Amino acid sequence: MPYISVLLNRKGGVGKSLISTMLAAVYAETLGDNGEVAVVSIDPQGTTIEHAEKVRAKGRTVPFRVLDLSGQTDRLRQLRKGKASVIIVDTPGFMPLKAEDPEDESIDPLGDGTVGDSLRAILDVADDVIVPLPAEGAAFTPTMVTVERVLWPRQMPHGVLINDWDPRDGTVDRDRTISLAKKRGWDVYNTTIRHYKPHTRALANGRLCTQYESNHTSTKAKADFQELALEHQLRRHRYAEVR
Ligand SMILES: Nc1ncnc2c1ncn2[C@@H]1O[C@H](COP(=O)(O)OP(=O)(O)OP(=O)(O)O)[C@@H](O)[C@H]1O
Ligand SMILES: [Mg+2]
Repeated sequence: MPYISVLLNRKGGVGKSLISTMLAAVYAETLGDNGEVAVVSIDPQGTTIEHAEKVRAKGRTVPFRVLDLSGQTDRLRQLRKGKASVIIVDTPGFMPLKAEDPEDESIDPLGDGTVGDSLRAILDVADDVIVPLPAEGAAFTPTMVTVERVLWPRQMPHGVLINDWDPRDGTVDRDRTISLAKKRGWDVYNTTIRHYKPHTRALANGRLCTQYESNHTSTKAKADFQELALEHQLRRHRYAEVR
C-alpha cells in the first residue's frame, strides 16, 4: 500500500511544490524509476506538472510518476489502491480572497469550493502532512490555521518544516520562528531546507535536485532534501506507533 504524504499550507509561495518535487526526486534516486515514487498534484496551477515537463523538455529523465488529479476527488479517495510505495501530494494554498476571522470555529478553513473538496478528500486518505514554513515568519498566522484548525482536529500526523532559510541572514529569524512554533506546541522538523539559488532556478532550468550541476552549493542544496527524506522515514515509524 502506498504511503501518502501531503504538502500543505494555507499560505501560497511557501515551498509546497518545490519540496514535493525534490523529495520525490531523492526518494526515486534511492528506490529507482520503476514507478515506486509518484507525485500527485491537486493544484490547478500544476507547478509540479510543469516542472516535470520542463525536465523532460531539457532531455532529462523524471524518475517518478507525475499525475494531475486536481478536482478529481473520487480518484484521490482511491489513491491507496495505487502501486507506488511513496506518493507525495502537492496542494494549492487555500487562503480565502475575503478576510475571515481565523478564530471563527464555524468556518471550515479549507473552504467550500473544488479546492476544499480535494483537500478534504486527500486528507482523508493521507498518512502524514508536511507543513512548509518560511523562516522569516510572515506565514505564521496562516500556518497556525493549517496546523491548529486543519491538522489537529483530524489528529493527522504532521511536521512543520522550516524552508527557504538563508544562512547568510543569520540564525535569528529561523530560531525565533522555531521557538514560536514550539511554544504553540507544533511538531517541528529538525531538518531545515535552506535557501539556495539552484532551487529557485530549478523549474526554469528543468532540473531536479538530483540533476543539479556538480558544485559545492548544489551538493549542499540537494543534501537538505536527503536529510528531509531520512527524517520523514524515521518519523513514519513514530507516526505508526501513535496512530
Ligand atoms: N529553499 C528554497 N530555496 C530557494 N528557492 C525556494 C526555496 N523554497 C521555495 N523557493 C522558491 O520560492 C518560490 C515559491 O515556491 P513554491 O512554488 O514551491 O511554493 P508553493 O507553496 O508551492 O506556492 P503556491 O502556493 O503558489 O503553489 C519558487 O520560485 C521556489 O523555487
Ligand atoms: Mg505550488
